[in-house]
Amino acid sequence: MASVTFEKATRIYPGTTRPAVDQVELTVNDGEFLVLVGPSGCGKTTTLRMLAGLEEVNEGRILIGDRDVTQVPPKDRDIAMVFQNYALYPHMTVAENMGFALKIAGVKKDERAVRVLEAAKLLDLEPYLDRKPKALSGGQRQRVAMGRAIVRKPAVFLMDEPLSNLDAKLRVATRTQIASLQRRLGVTTVYVTHDQVEAMTMGDRVAVLKDGLLQQVDTPRALYERPANVFVAGFIGSPAMNLMTLKIVGGVVKFGNTTLKIDSAVLGKTKEKAITAGLRPEDLVLSKNEGIEVEIDVIEELGADAFLYGSALIEGEKVDVIARIGSVSSHRSGDKVFLKPQGGITHIFDVTTGLRLNNDAPATAKKAVAANPAAVAAVAAKPAAKKAAAKTAAKPAAKKAVAAKPVAKKAVAKPAAKPAVKKPAAKKTK
Ligand SMILES: Nc1ncnc2c1ncn2[C@@H]1O[C@H](COP(=O)(O)OP(=O)(O)OP(=O)(O)O)[C@@H](O)[C@H]1O
Ligand SMILES: [Mg+2]
Repeated sequence: MASVTFEKATRIYPGTTRPAVDQVELTVNDGEFLVLVGPSGCGKTTTLRMLAGLEEVNEGRILIGDRDVTQVPPKDRDIAMVFQNYALYPHMTVAENMGFALKIAGVKKDERAVRVLEAAKLLDLEPYLDRKPKALSGGQRQRVAMGRAIVRKPAVFLMDEPLSNLDAKLRVATRTQIASLQRRLGVTTVYVTHDQVEAMTMGDRVAVLKDGLLQQVDTPRALYERPANVFVAGFIGSPAMNLMTLKIVGGVVKFGNTTLKIDSAVLGKTKEKAITAGLRPEDLVLSKNEGIEVEIDVIEELGADAFLYGSALIEGEKVDVIARIGSVSSHRSGDKVFLKPQGGITHIFDVTTGLRLNNDAPATAKKAVAANPAAVAAVAAKPAAKKAAAKTAAKPAAKKAVAAKPVAKKAVAKPAAKPAVKKPAAKKTK
């Protein structure tokens, strides 16, 4: 087993100028389950392939444990990869499929049988060892693909969207199995997904990537509670955070007809005359006549919860608003209600850079470090992540994301459904 370290690792594909992966600084601790998440094309697969040795590293280096593997061929890196399109050999049984890499590596037949059986037990595949892949369900086939990686007892597992071929229900079941299996085996794992729900439920820590730049590396809770910038704020969480621009006048902002004071420490950090305010759906409550007036589009009843989707005029601009309300609601679409924040404005970002202005050191991350020194890397990765975020915000293309509007309804996940999280911040409901 080993840790994994990316040191300013950069990949520039031939014929392109913009790096697909840009100076990534990241440490995955020994035995940790790290999830790499971000929208399509942000560089997740490239990062994983660089670690696997399948993609050249143009700048920086990659270490597995203390060993610099930047120039080491893939077969000598002691890693095993599970791809999205794991093809099983159709003419081989499950046992033969699982033992094939060992056979190639010259492992003796008896030893192979022992290791295959061991993995099959872990994966509940023992009854199927003599079957051919065509006689298996999708989930079982996926587990055989996992089994092929497990039997090799690598130092690091790399998984690139291994669940994307499964239907929604099976995805949920299998992601739990993979996460608990990883915890039992204790093998350092880097897992790629574009699905933020998958990332949040599986990872010890989650690394958020955008345009090849690392945005934030933190525990799922810290990402949710203290997103480092507007992009992470809009990307993590389902339904997504409400983001809106509010003018600062005399140290306060107006949220509809309520006035909210902004902390002087926060005001001291920005030169702008406005803030990007972030309020999660659960931060808003229905009120009689305070806050913003919202016209309801639809109420989504989920049983234990209900979400209200509507729109409001905020400082002259029509803004989509999502709020979590009690499970039984008498409101209907077309109704007008008032919504106000439960406390103050929970998340405050600079309107230009998109960087977080309030509580800049995630309290939860600090606690995590105190409880678990292994998490130090999460904090160590912070300054780099911030720099990355600043860099992103400086690029014109990134400004769009910074001035993000509340996220499209599509991004709302029913518990078992595949959440549409691709570029949530850039989409608008109407
Ligand atoms: N062989 C290649 N040559 C040139 N550009 C490439 C190549 N492979 C990938 N890219 C580009 O590099 C960027 C990152 O691609 P990558 O496959 O790592 O994204 P990803 O985050 O895995 O996306 P997805 O979620 O869609 O799988 C993209 O802009 C992509 O177009
Ligand atoms: Mg990919």
